[in-house]
Amino acid sequence: MGGAGYIGSHMVKMLAQRGHGVVTLDNLSTGYRDAVVGGTLVEADLPTRRRWTGCSPRSGRRGDALRQLHPGGRIGARARPLLPQQFQHTLNLLEAMVAHGVGRFIFSSTAAIFGEPDYVPIDEAHAKRPINPYGLTKLMVEQALADFDRAYGLSRSACAISTRRAPTPTANSASAHDPRPTWCAVAAGSLRPPRGDTGVRRDYDTPDGTCIRDYIHIVDLCEAHLLAIDYLGRGNPSAQFNLGNGSGFSVQEVLDTCNG
Ligand SMILES: NC(=O)c1ccc[n+]([C@@H]2O[C@H](COP(=O)([O-])OP(=O)(O)OC[C@H]3O[C@@H](n4cnc5c(N)ncnc54)[C@H](O)[C@@H]3O)[C@@H](O)[C@H]2O)c1
Repeated sequence: MGGAGYIGSHMVKMLAQRGHGVVTLDNLSTGYRDAVVGGTLVEADLPTRRRWTGCSPRSGRRGDALRQLHPGGRIGARARPLLPQQFQHTLNLLEAMVAHGVGRFIFSSTAAIFGEPDYVPIDEAHAKRPINPYGLTKLMVEQALADFDRAYGLSRSACAISTRRAPTPTANSASAHDPRPTWCAVAAGSLRPPRGDTGVRRDYDTPDGTCIRDYIHIVDLCEAHLLAIDYLGRGNPSAQFNLGNGSGFSVQEVLDTCNG
C-alpha cells in the first residue's frame, strides 16, 4: 500500500530484489508510476474497495504481509487533518484483509504518536500523548490494529519512524521525484537552490538554533521494515519497534553537509 511513494517505492524495490512477489496499491496522489520498479502496480484509491479487494488473489497466498502507508498520504505534523476519513479508510482495509485471509500487517507509524518526549531516545515503553492530528491518527490506527489482533488474530508490527531524509545509494526514479532530499539535490547540482527564506526555523533552544532530529537512512528504514516482516513471518506476536539511529543532527548541520 503506497508503494509508489518515497518509502514505499524503496520497499517495493528491496522486496522484489529479495524474491518477494509484490503488489502495490496506490492512487498516485503523491506517488509516481515509474517509481514502482518491481511487482505489479494496481492504481486504486484506499477508500474505493471495489478495486483493491481484487488485489488479494494476485498478491498471492493467505498470510501475505501487507505494509500500509498512512492512508491520507500527506505526511507530517502540519498535514491537513482528515482524521475520520483516514481512520475509516484504514478500517476498510483491515476488514478486507480479514475477509481475504491476509494475516500480517506492517504499519509505518511515526514518532509523533509520543508527543513531547519525557526522555530520549524514545523507547517503545514511552507514553503515547500525540499533540497533533497526524500523531493522533497514527495512534488511532495502532489501537485499531490491537483490536483486530484480539478479534481476528491479525498480527501486526508498528514501526514508529523518527525522521528519514537521505539520498539513497540505490536511487531509483522515486528519489528524482521526491521533494524532500532537496538540499542533497541542490548540493548535487540537479536542483537550483531556493531563493529567499528557506523556511528553516532558527528559534529552537539548540546550539545553532535549528531543530535537532534523529535521521534514519531510507535503506536502513526499509531494512527495518523487512526485519519486521520476517519477525511476524516467524510467528512472533504483534510488536512495536521504534526506528532511529540514536543520535541527532541539527537542520543546519545537514544543510552544511549537503553544501559541502
Ligand atoms: N517520510 C518520513 O519522514 C516519515 C516519517 C514517519 C512516518 N512516515 C510514514 O511513512 C508513510 C509513507 O511516507 P512517504 O514519505 O513514503 O510518503 P509519500 O507521500 O511519498 O507516499 C505515500 C504514498 O501513498 C499513496 N497514497 C496516499 N493516499 C492514498 C490512498 N488514499 N489510496 C492509495 N494510495 C494512497 C501516495 O500516492 C504515495 O505513493 C506515511 O504513512 C508516513 O506517515 C514517514
